[in-house]
Amino acid sequence: MRIIIRENAEELSKIAAQQIIDGYTPGMRLGVATGSTPLGLYKALREAHAAGDFSMAGSSAWALDEYVGIPADHPERYFNVLHTELVKDGGVGLFEADLHTPDGGAEDPKVAAKEYDAAIAPGVDIQILGLGRNGHIGFNEPGGGLASRTHVDVLTASTREANARFFDNDMDRVPTFCVTQGLGTIMSAKKIVLLAFGTDKAEAVEQLIEGAVSQLWPATVLQHHVDVTVYIDEAAASRLE
Ligand code: F6R
Repeated sequence: MRIIIRENAEELSKIAAQQIIDGYTPGMRLGVATGSTPLGLYKALREAHAAGDFSMAGSSAWALDEYVGIPADHPERYFNVLHTELVKDGGVGLFEADLHTPDGGAEDPKVAAKEYDAAIAPGVDIQILGLGRNGHIGFNEPGGGLASRTHVDVLTASTREANARFFDNDMDRVPTFCVTQGLGTIMSAKKIVLLAFGTDKAEAVEQLIEGAVSQLWPATVLQHHVDVTVYIDEAAASRLE
């Protein structure tokens, strides 16, 4: 695990974006996270595209997860969020047809989860990850299996509370279920780039880097991956020895 610590998120987002640009190959499959953490990285990729230095045309992006039952036109539906970040107005050059998210609106989300897992196999080339305060990656909450594949899951109260900011702070509007890549699916990526910013993430970062591999802190499974780079700001690194 390579660990890169800088003072602030902006600088880290740019360095992480450069890692994606340097590792880019035409036709690449890029795993993409939602949430607030990767927004600076996506902005840096859009800027590189606008400058003519980078384009994902002909390549594909694969979301980590999606809410179940969220209306198709809801701005927080992860397909829509990623469309805004990567496709809209030129974005990173990615075509809409090449943006993939689990189908949270499927009649049977369990079937949709299996199909998504099969489509990702044998794994994306680079997977971008954020980190939950409780150590989740994707929506793999503490206690789940370390080798799980893409599946339907229940969001914990703490994750729903953390995400309420995207739903007018109204808990009744925050979805209860999601489809998420499993930890085994995430581990099948060839390379992993994880970003975590702020003191809120310090305990999860401490466990990720210094803790024992455990279902209680799902991200710790990444210790078993051969190619992980972790980008953390000083606040997120504050509990490291
Ligand atoms: C997003 C995802 C989550 C987030 C995590 C951190 O697709 O799967 O694991 O990466 O909840 O969220 P932020 O970045 O909003 O702190």
